[in-house]
Amino acid sequence: MMAPAMLNEACQDPNRIVSQFEETGQDHDTVMQAVRNMHDFDRTEISLRKGQLSCWAMAPTALMKERLLETPAEAAKLYLNDNLFYRRLHPSIGHMYDSVMGMARVVSGIPKTATGAFTLGGTESNILAVLGAREWAKQKGKDPSGLNIVMSNTAHLSIDKAAHYFGLEIRRVPVGEKFAARAEDFRKRVDSNTAIIIGSAPDYCYGQYDPIEDLSELALEHNTWLHVDGAIGAAYARTMRDLGESIPASAFDLDGVTSVSVDLHKHVYAPIGAGILFCREQEFTDLHTFSEGTWPVGLMVSTGMNGSPPASSLAGAYAVMRRLGLEGYRAQTAQIIHNRTKLVGLIEALDETRIFGNPIGTVVTFGWNDIDASLVAAAMEERDWKINQVSDPAGIHCTLDAFDNDPLLEAFAAAMAECADAIRAGYRPKTVKGATYG
Ligand SMILES: Cc1ncc(COP(=O)(O)O)c(C=O)c1O
Repeated sequence: MMAPAMLNEACQDPNRIVSQFEETGQDHDTVMQAVRNMHDFDRTEISLRKGQLSCWAMAPTALMKERLLETPAEAAKLYLNDNLFYRRLHPSIGHMYDSVMGMARVVSGIPKTATGAFTLGGTESNILAVLGAREWAKQKGKDPSGLNIVMSNTAHLSIDKAAHYFGLEIRRVPVGEKFAARAEDFRKRVDSNTAIIIGSAPDYCYGQYDPIEDLSELALEHNTWLHVDGAIGAAYARTMRDLGESIPASAFDLDGVTSVSVDLHKHVYAPIGAGILFCREQEFTDLHTFSEGTWPVGLMVSTGMNGSPPASSLAGAYAVMRRLGLEGYRAQTAQIIHNRTKLVGLIEALDETRIFGNPIGTVVTFGWNDIDASLVAAAMEERDWKINQVSDPAGIHCTLDAFDNDPLLEAFAAAMAECADAIRAGYRPKTVKGATYG
């Protein structure tokens, strides 16, 4: 492997930026050397090499997934040129599709009666739920130009994207000082033009659960679609409960829940580009399905948004679930619980810190009573940590993953303590940035 300084040079050499389609193709080794150089360049960053992050789930290969990734990577490679629609040609894609649905149902406790559609992740799943809800509202004679979505202000921005695409109004419920929305504030905003209520389980901003049980009642009263955004938490909810955690009911065991999204590329450890939108019954999956037979080449039936959804994503998800098994999944989840408990304990022990809300999943956010968290984050960045933040109030955003590395968590807390002390003593970092997604 190249020394970091050489790699730095190689990556900054403008001749390496390929701005044209070259006249002559390069051999395999040359191309792979270039790709490896770019990839390894990222890994020369201390933060990635040592896992000096606050959002550990964003760079899992830096810590724990290298081995777990080998099997899905090899499986995905076999299907790199295959489209999920090519099932007539490749019946194996249909077999894997049904297997992925079945395994995801078992791990997340989704009943057999629920129907699933494979997606490329939480955004597509959320957009499809809004689409289905709009179609349902139209079926019930509602004017599609006057429909609204009711959700807390911590709901994922992909819902805003869906509202933008489909022309729905958004009514936001503020989460307030407890970082969790109240059912009565949802109730105030729901009316006869509400096409969909969204509940996060949990949300990405603070890792809090919306009051899904109450939202289920509300949805039943108004005969409205209730979508549970379980991108983060739907997959591990059942296992965490089995391991003694008190995770609120947030799926089809509540009668008012119409759809639940589950991301396989988050806490099921599949390679990026894998999620599922489960609907209570086929009727609801049909509502987000596009089906058209007027084209000269024949009927197209598509449950998702993409014309060429990659079968490689499906193969990767299939492989990782088979590799883990329920035993492996329990072990990963137990490790996450350990990491979260350890991190919360370490942060609570620091001077003047305040944990935001009640962290029961994999997201932990916190700030300080006496100093601005964005200053501490900037001081941490100067020490080669990559820190994610939240705003209003300013805080540090952590997403845990299943790595086995207590010393790393201890180093994170110790560096936070030192940076906070430096800020108290008057130190001001050169560049202070607020919260930025990614
Ligand atoms: C709660 C929640 N919903 C939806 C999404 C969107 O998922 P994706 O990035 O897979 O599209 C995320 C992503 O972090 C999320 O945390």
